[in-house]
Amino acid sequence: MRIAKNVLRLEAYVPGEQPKCGNVVKLNTNENPYPPSPKAAKILASFDPDRLRRYPDPNFTELREAIARRNGTTADRVFVGNGSDEILSLAAKAFVENDGSIGSLDPSYSLYKTLAAIRDVPWKASRKCSLFLWTNPNAPTGTFAPVEEIAKFAKRFKGVVIVDEAYADFARDNAMRLATAEENKNLIVMRTFSKSYSLAGLRVGYAVGPKDLINALFKVKDSYNVDAIAQAVALAAYKDQGWMKRNAAKIKKTRTFLTKELEKRGWDVPPSEANFVFAKPPEGGPDAKATFEALKERKIFTRYFAGAKTGDRIRITVGTDEQTRILLEAIDAIHKQA
Ligand SMILES: Cc1ncc(COP(=O)(O)O)c(C=O)c1O
Repeated sequence: MRIAKNVLRLEAYVPGEQPKCGNVVKLNTNENPYPPSPKAAKILASFDPDRLRRYPDPNFTELREAIARRNGTTADRVFVGNGSDEILSLAAKAFVENDGSIGSLDPSYSLYKTLAAIRDVPWKASRKCSLFLWTNPNAPTGTFAPVEEIAKFAKRFKGVVIVDEAYADFARDNAMRLATAEENKNLIVMRTFSKSYSLAGLRVGYAVGPKDLINALFKVKDSYNVDAIAQAVALAAYKDQGWMKRNAAKIKKTRTFLTKELEKRGWDVPPSEANFVFAKPPEGGPDAKATFEALKERKIFTRYFAGAKTGDRIRITVGTDEQTRILLEAIDAIHKQA
């Protein structure tokens, strides 16, 4: 047997489609419709290729220090990864024994199940586990859990809790104050540059938490897990908080508009605090899957997750106002035809 049994059995994670053709309305992977900070773009444009002869800083010192400073903590409580997906994978190595398990909300980010299968441990829709991944706001639902609820749970919990805050910049609150508190022994907050900073293609995420847990992530990572260009561009984007916040504010405004317009058309839309909505079409017309497919025919990409808890809805990333107008026009046409 050349391939490990758990890998043979593994159902690989399926990321959202990245269509090759242009001229599409891409609302399927929760990317930001606005460009990254011009300050980050400038660093990228002026990056000296000669710097690539050398390996990057294995400790991403400047970026770590900037993240620590902004959050009123020290750099030894900060880790940086090749996207937050890498941090999740390192956490599965560092915080889960061979007889352990990984738990999360259900539904939640579908990668978690794959992660457990790769690590060859059970995934559970339960808090009785070794590593609990609490996505807040949750995906694909967009719903938000009060931070106090997470704090209460972490206090009682014996394992490690990672609060996956990929969408925190679109939400009313976040758990960073828990991650930086000295008394916290088992909670990590994880963020990404992929959503609010418009840098999904750069692959940078970070984690903040107790020193010993951060140190454990350092022990299991590849030596040079974040490349030199990624470190430099992410740092410039991070320093330009104003740009990120203005874009997040625009997205939140469009989210409110999109929610109201869908509700006017009879859709059920749970209040979202993320950059997407998880919406259920009205009874009697095309169902979620049919709507998803009809939108795709019109080159409007959304996301459909089959399954008992998710199959009656589509997840729609909040785009620009213009993309939202095109989406709503298409929805009207599809549901009128029926
Ligand atoms: C909840 C959640 N966590 C993590 C990620 C991955 O982010 P990154 O691009 O930083 O790997 C995503 C991406 O969609 C996500 O939805």
